[in-house]
Amino acid sequence: MTSEQTFIAIKPDGVQRGLVGDIISRFEKRGYKLVAIKMVTPGKAHLEKHYEDLKDKPFFPGLVSYMNSGPIAAMVWEGREVVKVGRLILGATNPLASAPGTIRFDYAIDVGRNVCHGSDAVDSAKKEIKLWFKDDEITNWTSAQQSWVY
Ligand code: PPS
Repeated sequence: MTSEQTFIAIKPDGVQRGLVGDIISRFEKRGYKLVAIKMVTPGKAHLEKHYEDLKDKPFFPGLVSYMNSGPIAAMVWEGREVVKVGRLILGATNPLASAPGTIRFDYAIDVGRNVCHGSDAVDSAKKEIKLWFKDDEITNWTSAQQSWVY
């Protein structure tokens, strides 16, 4: 089976609103495997690096300070096409444009408080996982269920 990994973060508003369990549950129920998770407040420099492609956008300082406002639940999820499907589970970046049933549709109305982040491509997922996690923080395990159900 071809598999891949993605970086998913529950942003400070998602953590403070008690949405961690629901967001994890949506990925688990879909059949994805949680291979790394930690609560982290990584600081301004780290967040500026994470969002470096957006440094010229007018919302960049506000985005960094929002992300720096409290702990983030940082995760690595693994499974078939998890980068693309992970973004579908989250919903469109602007919650007002997101589809019903997605996390952002269900929980947000403001693009600047959109609850969660997901890597947008396989290459950026690799970069983001490397930035947020050390190699030994990522587990390698096989679900007992995986041999017959996915
Ligand atoms: S995307 O997801 O890359 O296609 O979308 P993009 O519009 O480029 O957004 C990238 C990240 O910037 C955040 N964003 C904003 N934050 C605050 N205010 C405004 N107006 C705004 N517009 C975009 C958006 O939430 C994306 O953050 P992440 O963490 O990647 O979801």
